[in-house]
Amino acid sequence: MSKKLYLISYGCQMNEYDSAKMVDVLAASHGYERTRNPDEADLLLLNTCSVREKAQEKVFSELGRWKEWKQTAPDRVIGVGGCVASQEGQAITERQPLVDIVFGPQTLHRLPTLLDTTREARKPVVDVSFPEIEKFDRLPEPRAEGPSAFVSIMEGCSKYCTFCVVPYTRGEEVSRPLDDVLAEIAQLAEQGVREVTLLGQNVNAYRGGMGSGGEICDLALLVNFIARMPGIARIRYTTSHPAEFSDALIDAFAEEPKLASYLHLPVQSGSNRILGMMKRGYTRERYLDQIRRIRAARPDISLSSDFIVGYPTETDADFAMTMDLIHEAGFDCAFSFIYSPRPGTPAANLRDTVSDAEKHQRLGILQTRIRTLDDAFKRKLVGTTQRVLVERPARWAGQMAGRTSTNRWVNFEGTAELIGQFVDVEVTEALNNSLRGVLRRTDDGLAASPRVA
Ligand code: SAM
Ligand code: F3S
Repeated sequence: MSKKLYLISYGCQMNEYDSAKMVDVLAASHGYERTRNPDEADLLLLNTCSVREKAQEKVFSELGRWKEWKQTAPDRVIGVGGCVASQEGQAITERQPLVDIVFGPQTLHRLPTLLDTTREARKPVVDVSFPEIEKFDRLPEPRAEGPSAFVSIMEGCSKYCTFCVVPYTRGEEVSRPLDDVLAEIAQLAEQGVREVTLLGQNVNAYRGGMGSGGEICDLALLVNFIARMPGIARIRYTTSHPAEFSDALIDAFAEEPKLASYLHLPVQSGSNRILGMMKRGYTRERYLDQIRRIRAARPDISLSSDFIVGYPTETDADFAMTMDLIHEAGFDCAFSFIYSPRPGTPAANLRDTVSDAEKHQRLGILQTRIRTLDDAFKRKLVGTTQRVLVERPARWAGQMAGRTSTNRWVNFEGTAELIGQFVDVEVTEALNNSLRGVLRRTDDGLAASPRVA
C-alpha cells in the first residue's frame, strides 16, 4: 500500500510549482501519494510563504492545529518548507517542537534523505542552504498534470527591492541551462502539454548557458526556441521586472504568435518618489513608455500588475499618482497588497507613517478601480471568438473550462475528449470571475455545439 502525504501550500505560483515537485520527489523515493484526507497520511508538509506578515503568521497557527494529529501516531512526520522555513531555519523547531523537518525552496529535492534521517535519529533536521542549481539536477522526470504546465527557468532574485524578502529567502538569481529547460519542455510535450508558463521571480533576468561555448540565452531567445518545439502552441512567462523588460521581449509580442496575449508586469507604485525609495530601477514615465510599446506590438494584450499601498511615507499625492498610472496604463487585472514590513529588509527600518485606516482606504479604492477595468475587459470579449486551450471539466456538469490567450477562464458546453485541444469559443457572457461561451470549432476542424448558451 502506498504511503500518503498531506500537503498545504501557501503563496505564489513558484510555491505551487515547488509543491508539485515535493510530491514527485517523495513519490519517486518512498512511493508517497498525495491525499486530501490528513487522517490517512503519515507525512504533513507545509509549503510556506513569507512575502507578507499574514502569510508568515498563518504557518504557526496552522502548526498548532496539528498537535493531536501528530500524537495519534508516533511515526507521523511534519515538514515545513518554503520561504518561512528558509528565513527562520532552526527557530521553527524551537518555537514549534512538533516540527521534524525544516527545508528551504532550494533543498526540497533533499526531502527523501531528510525524512529518513529524522525517522532514524528521532530528532528534527534542518537544511535551508542554497546549493545553487543542484535542485533541478536531482528532481525526478517532469510529470504533466493536464495540457498546461509550469516550467521553472530560474531561481531566486537579485533585485533587492527595499520591501521584499525574496532575495534573502530564495537566494540570488540562478538560471537553469538552456538545454535542461528545453529537455523538460520536450518531455512535457510528449505527455500532451500544449502550453507552458515559464516561471521565476524575475524571468527577464534569465541568462541560461548554451552549449559548452559560454554563450548565453536570454528570455526572448528562449521563447524563440520553445516556439519551435513540436506540440507547444502557447507560451507564457511570469514574473517580469520592468527594469529588465528588453526591446527584444517587446518585439517578441509582435513577431511570435505563440506568445500569449498576457503580461504581468509589476509596477508597485505610480509615484517616482516611492519607486525610488523602493529601489525599483525605473520611473513611471519609462514604465508607461514600455506599456505603450507593448500595446503597439500586441494590441489585444491583457496587462496585469502588482501594487503595494501604504509604503512608508506614501502620501495622498503619491497614491493619486498610482491611480493615475492605472488609468494611463489601462491594466485589466492586478494583485494589490498593503505594505507589510519584512524583517531583514531595508524598508523595515523606515518609520511606518501611513495609518491602518488610510492603507485600507487606499487598497479599497485601488481594488474597486481594477475590478471595474477587469469587468470592462471581459465585457469587450463578449461577441468575439477566442482560441481556448481546454484544460479541465468546469464546475458545472456537461461543461468544460479553458483559458483564452488573455488568461481568462471560459466555461462552455463540451465533453472531456476536448481536454488538451485548442478550440474556438464564442464568448456570450461576462461573469464575475470568468466568461461563458459556446464552442464553435474544435482542433480537428469540426463545427460544434449548435446550442447557444
Ligand atoms: N518579481 C516580482 C517583481 O518584479 O516585482 C515580484 C515578486 S513578489 C514575491 C510578489 C509581489 O508581492 C510583489 O510584486 C509585491 O507587490 C508584493 N510584495 C512583496 N513584498 C511585499 C511586502 N513587504 N509587502 C507587501 N507586498 C509585498
Ligand atoms: Fe522581490 Fe523585487 Fe525580486 S519584489 S522578488 S526583490 S524583483
